[in-house]
Order: sequence, then structure tokens, then C-alpha cells
Amino acid sequence: MISRSDDYVEYCRETAKHARDLHDLALRGRDKQDVTRLIHLHIVEAVGLGADDDLVDIGCGDGILLRMAQQLGVRSALGLLATEEEVGLVRRSALNVRQGLADHIPLPDQSASVIACNGVLLMVPREKIPASLREMFRIGKPGARIFIGEIPYAQPKDPTPNFSTPRELLSYLFREHGLRSWFGMLRRMAWWKISGKPAVIHSGTTVTFFATPGEFEALATTAGLQLLRHWPSDFPKNRNNYLLRKPEQTNFRENAQAS
Ligand SMILES: C[S@@+](CC[C@H](N)C(=O)[O-])C[C@H]1O[C@@H](n2cnc3c(N)ncnc32)[C@H](O)[C@@H]1O
Repeated sequence: MISRSDDYVEYCRETAKHARDLHDLALRGRDKQDVTRLIHLHIVEAVGLGADDDLVDIGCGDGILLRMAQQLGVRSALGLLATEEEVGLVRRSALNVRQGLADHIPLPDQSASVIACNGVLLMVPREKIPASLREMFRIGKPGARIFIGEIPYAQPKDPTPNFSTPRELLSYLFREHGLRSWFGMLRRMAWWKISGKPAVIHSGTTVTFFATPGEFEALATTAGLQLLRHWPSDFPKNRNNYLLRKPEQTNFRENAQAS
């Protein structure tokens, strides 16, 4: 019996354990390096990243934005990743990363002039979104620019079906992802059998948070953030990017923000 888990953090951990190259951590697919690069060039442009900035990239994937920030000569660039397994891989390329989740950011108040969070919140459980936005407010310096990308505006159909038998799962993997994935799963199945460990697959495809621009603006406003603009994501379609700002002056009691 194989059960399915939609715990995205565990999916990220699994991916890191089996990663062949760093770009696997962007979770966009092997042939999408150019797309990842383009997306991050657009983020740099949207926030106007420059030498005076302290950047925090929440869910920094393969660290491409941190590398771009270094090339621009920013004052500091720190990436957060959901698991220590990802941190171990990205640190090898001499980037400053640490483990941390969007709703509990391990950083002091007012540490970032720019915050990026692309392709992350859609996979964060919906009930953690208000706390995640409050954390961005808390770590933002007054006037901080905040980019939040790839928020679906409606619930997308989950492309991963449920499987009733191991055979169904294997033939799906072969059909959709090729021989390597098929063989990888076969090995894991053998390992589950030998070790007696629970057989769990992490599909990593279930969107847990989506919002229309109006709904998202309301959530951001409640967290103390101002929406500057929104526009459709480069990839994939049916998602929006948001540029927000922490006001220079705020009536919010910062230490009351994180719950
Ligand atoms: C799809 S990748 C996006 C990577 C990168 N931002 C990009 O756009 O290429 C998702 C990233 O979110 C991180 N992540 C997953 N769950 C998270 C959570 N609850 N809080 C913060 N980051 C999370 C993972 O470590 C991973 O780096």
C-alpha cells in the first residue's frame, strides 16, 4: 500500500536528497534553467535591486537570485530554504543560506530592504499565509520592497492523479517523466519493502494557496503591507506576481506582528 503526502516541505526534502544538479531545487523541471533565469531577471528589475540593498529571498530554490544580487554588489543577500537538505546543497556554492519557513523567519526585525518570495506561498498551507505576510512585514525595513510571485488566482487542477496500485504509479511515472523516474521509484519501492519503512510518495503538485488580486491585497493590507501593483507571471500562466511595500511609517506594533 502506497500513501500520498501533500506536505510540500517533505517534497522539497526528497528532491534535495535525489537532486542531480542545483537547478533541481528550483522545482521547475530539468529543461527550465532559462525560464528560472528570466524569472529572476524580472524580479531584480521589479524591485530595482541595487548596491544599497539587503536582500532576503524566502524559498530561494537553487540560489539564482542570490547569485544575481552578488553580481550587482548588494550589501547582503540571504536565502531561506525549507529544509537542511536543501541548505547543504546550496551552501556548497558559497551562498549565504539557512533553513527557515515563511511563517517563522529566523531573522531579526527590519533586516531586509528587499524581500523576494517567488513560487513559494502557493504551496504554503492557507492558514499560514497571514503569519507569512506578517513575517515579511516584521523583517522588512521601513520602505522595504517586497516581491511575491506566482500566486494562482484560482485553484488549479492537480496534475498528479491518485494511484490505487504501485503498478499504476510506475506506469504514470514512465509515461509522464521517463525511464529515470520510473527506475528511481522502483528502487524506492524495493527500499520500502526491505526496510519496512512506510511507503509514502510526495507529489509536490497540490496548490494549497490561491487568491484573486482583491483577496491577496486584503491579506497583505491586514499584515500592514501596501500593494503597489500586480501583473501576470511569466511562467506558468494563470498566476500573478505582486509588488508590495512596507510603509516608511507605520502604526503597526511590530513586535505584535508575528504570532
Ligand atoms: C518552487 S521552489 C521556488 C524556488 C525559487 N524561489 C524560484 O522561483 O526558482 C520552492 C522553494 O520554497 C521553499 N519552501 C517550501 N516550503 C516553504 C515554506 N513553508 N516556507 C518557506 N519556503 C518554503 C523551498 O525550500 C524551495 O526553495
